[in-house]
Amino acid sequence: MIELVDVTKNIAGNTIINKVNLTINENDFLSITGKSGSGKTTLLNILALESSLSGGYIIFDRQKILTQKEMQLTKHRIGRIFQDFKLIPDLTIFENVSYLLENDGTLNKLEITEIVISALDLLGILEIQNEFPDNVSGGQQQRVGIARCIARGNKIIIADEPTSNLDPQTSKNIFEVLRKVNQLGIPVIVATHDVDLIKNYSTRNIRLSGGTIVEWKK
Ligand SMILES: Nc1ncnc2c1ncn2[C@@H]1O[C@H](COP(=O)(O)OP(=O)(O)OP(=O)(O)O)[C@@H](O)[C@H]1O
Ligand SMILES: [Mg+2]
Repeated sequence: MIELVDVTKNIAGNTIINKVNLTINENDFLSITGKSGSGKTTLLNILALESSLSGGYIIFDRQKILTQKEMQLTKHRIGRIFQDFKLIPDLTIFENVSYLLENDGTLNKLEITEIVISALDLLGILEIQNEFPDNVSGGQQQRVGIARCIARGNKIIIADEPTSNLDPQTSKNIFEVLRKVNQLGIPVIVATHDVDLIKNYSTRNIRLSGGTIVEWKK
């Protein structure tokens, strides 16, 4: 699905990611661990095609991504969720999931409604569709972030510490949702410090240190 080959990233003269080789398949639920500053977010930005490379290359769906233009054209197929959820506060939950589909201009209103409703239903948040983000819990907000990826048809989901603002039980619920999404054939990649996720949910784990993969588990 996505493969990094000898990927290196230098920032301000420092090597932040150093010759990383990594293949991610459809059925992977990969956790990435490592101390603060080890390069997790930088690696996620690279996987999300948000960051240029200093060395090596990326293959996405059997296609080598070499140019800035190829990155731009492929990026929308990758979904991201964040620690602080990144919802738009003055849009309802429904609108937070629908607005990108509307901007896209390829679907009519009825098609958009069907897609959004089925994504909200899959995530178990249909009943809050008319609420605003501030009126729902953190766990529900994170589900909206995941619903947005599903509705957009993202082929891969990348999450940077998605549960660090959530309590342990809510985190567990989010991991269960991510597992369900993964079982639909969407690879999930999560940078996390959460031991429960690593022990009980992810199917593979890598640990970064100084921008290099130093440990593989599972
Ligand atoms: N834009 C940037 N400019 C300068 N240095 C950067 C930049 N982005 C990242 N770095 C450096 O790269 C290293 C890795 O950062 P990164 O954010 O990827 O780590 P991380 O593992 O995600 O850490 P954390 O657990 O704190 O989120 C750090 O030393 C950081 O200071
Ligand atoms: Mg980080």
